[in-house]
Amino acid sequence: MDRSALEIIGGHGLSGHVRVSGAKNSALVIMAGMLLCPGDCHISNVPQLEDINNMVKILTALGVKIEHQGSSLKANASDIGHSQAPYELVSKLRASFFAIGPLLSRLGVAHIPLPGGCAIGARPVELHVRGLRAMGATVLIEHGVVKASVPGQRGRLQGAKIYLDCPSVGATETLMMAATLAEGKTVIDNAAQEPEVIDLANFCIAMGAKIEGAGTNTITIEGVETLHSAEWSIIPDRIEAGTFLVAGAITHSEITVGPVVPEHLTAVIAKLEAMGCKVLKEGSDALRLIPAAAYKAVDIRTLPFPGFPTDMQAQLMALMTLAEGNSIITETMFENRLQHVAELQRMGANIRAQGDTALVTGTAALSGAPVMATDLRASAALVLAGLAAQGKTTVQELRHLDRGYERLDEKLRQLGAKIERVELPLESEGQAGAARSPA
Ligand code: UD1
Repeated sequence: MDRSALEIIGGHGLSGHVRVSGAKNSALVIMAGMLLCPGDCHISNVPQLEDINNMVKILTALGVKIEHQGSSLKANASDIGHSQAPYELVSKLRASFFAIGPLLSRLGVAHIPLPGGCAIGARPVELHVRGLRAMGATVLIEHGVVKASVPGQRGRLQGAKIYLDCPSVGATETLMMAATLAEGKTVIDNAAQEPEVIDLANFCIAMGAKIEGAGTNTITIEGVETLHSAEWSIIPDRIEAGTFLVAGAITHSEITVGPVVPEHLTAVIAKLEAMGCKVLKEGSDALRLIPAAAYKAVDIRTLPFPGFPTDMQAQLMALMTLAEGNSIITETMFENRLQHVAELQRMGANIRAQGDTALVTGTAALSGAPVMATDLRASAALVLAGLAAQGKTTVQELRHLDRGYERLDEKLRQLGAKIERVELPLESEGQAGAARSPA
């Protein structure tokens, strides 16, 4: 068990400006996209995260030469000799499955272990597989490994018309990357419209790909023979930015957050404003959060972009625990994404959850407690709750947080939060877990 923990003394106000890092989900898929290019690629504004370090390891194992320093990442995939990603690495990082599209497109063959389930649900990949088959690939799943190959001597994928049963972000990205080097035109209907899909498309276009419609529900890709070197700067992380906006709200503090693309946060801003906050644009790429003295209950249903993001659901729930009245959260994207409920209850939150729905009845105050992070965004929700709670909150299992937030504790400390990273003595292990259900 990970013994590092965050100790937070709640009830302190925040002030100032917080810098938002590059988007994790954009950086991960763009890193996979670098496999498409036989020349040098340079991406900047890459967040410094465990997930990124794991993706570097996977690409290195596939034969990519990488120089990774701070937020700059240079890669050369001219010599990718391997088409097989190692299971130990794929199992640590679901996003590494994204390598299947570029590898298949470039080499005509790709063997990637099935990423399997994760804390928030089963997360299948059948839409990725079905789309690749429609493009002429033979795909077998044997002994937990997805083995894809393109028949024929030249081994080139064929453009196809693909309809996605649901607008999966990952499937849209896999198929868009695969189609860049396919022969002919691919049309992806019911495509995901998330900003990270647009960022990937723009990176591919910078490498010479012909892509139209990214950001709408129909993406058209005209395959080209080869791609070339490119430089790209990753978009700001809208989920990190949203998390800081909630930090301002829950501590009743006025702060500014940037850089952001405000349009990426429309749904989050709408809900914060419905609860009583004001969120003002500050220049072209920052937001000012003006808190309210008391918050109103609000209902949230997670949906594909531009709907309310599932990756902000846990953080908003933390704020709802202190709002006046009943809020209802319906999680429609993942089947097991309300695990933070039990931990928030340990802090005095009044929440009833059933299936994919949670009824949150606001209370006057939360009280600090030892809690256990269960997944990435749940960890952030517990930190937010800790900032507002009376007394000390200890958040354990930080490996989840460190996967996806760059120095969250340091950034919050710079805003004035009382938050420290500590090593727990051995005897306190399981402190939070003791009251948890065995599941
Ligand atoms: C990405 C994000 C994740 C975010 C999610 C939804 C990355 C690295 N991760 O995950 O942070 O929470 O989008 O915005 O970018 N589905 C299928 N079959 C498939 C693929 C997906 O049924 O083949 C379902 C999933 O089970 C889920 C829904 O589609 O219910 C959305 O998943 P998807 O958009 O694919 O999420 P990810 O790309 O895995």
